[in-house]
Amino acid sequence: MPDGTTIQRMFAEVAPGYDRANRALSFGIDVWWRRKTVQLVAVRPGEHGLDVCAGTGDLSFALQRAGATMVGADFCAPMLSRAHAKGVQQVRAGRPAGPVFLAADAMALPFADARFDFATVAFGIRNVADPVVALREMARVVKPGGRVVVLEFTKPRVPVLGHAYRFYFKRILPKLGSWICGARNDAYRYLHDSVMAFPEREAFLELMRAAGLANPRQRLLTGGIAAIYRGEVQR
Ligand SMILES: C[S@@+](CC[C@H](N)C(=O)[O-])C[C@H]1O[C@@H](n2cnc3c(N)ncnc32)[C@H](O)[C@@H]1O
Repeated sequence: MPDGTTIQRMFAEVAPGYDRANRALSFGIDVWWRRKTVQLVAVRPGEHGLDVCAGTGDLSFALQRAGATMVGADFCAPMLSRAHAKGVQQVRAGRPAGPVFLAADAMALPFADARFDFATVAFGIRNVADPVVALREMARVVKPGGRVVVLEFTKPRVPVLGHAYRFYFKRILPKLGSWICGARNDAYRYLHDSVMAFPEREAFLELMRAAGLANPRQRLLTGGIAAIYRGEVQR
């Protein structure tokens, strides 16, 4: 597992092409996965939400459009500045202001206890040095009874899909990703390796329990290529 500084550097380098690469490499399915995540968060108007490892802010914006007032947090400045630029563009186009974005480490969130109604993280928890610490931090800043929702890659277990996925993910995606982002580093090889190594399904639900979250559940997406996990903060 690379250290925090290496992760920051890796995302800083891919930041300019990150959104473009996401759309191209997932054939646009990542947009649908975030939409499903918003549905599972089940935002009530006026709620306050925190999106951790927010990156360029796609999930934060989607949750804000659903009626929440959002804060997006990430520890990589170039990713955050893309998110911020999208908000500026939105206002210039006459649409409502976007989320507030700020620099923060997921493992030491700079917020008071019970500050938010829910917290989310999309494709970020896998990159954090200690996922249980980050989940515990997310639970701490959410009100009792609130929810913590995680969108993350999983490994498909359906035989044909599994083979095709592994070939694409290991052989094609790292080359395409580096090409689209013009990145010299191994960010997209790291993507493959980190997904293969990360606890998924039942094992991830165990991490949620270890972080003190109640009733952890999972919902597999697209034949088990991704999953949404949802837990509740103990009352
Ligand atoms: C794959 S991107 C996901 C971005 C966004 N959530 C999305 O759905 O596209 C992972 C993000 O996690 C951030 N990240 C990784 N470890 C972090 C940490 N410990 N604290 C804050 N952000 C972190 C990276 O800077 C990067 O922007």
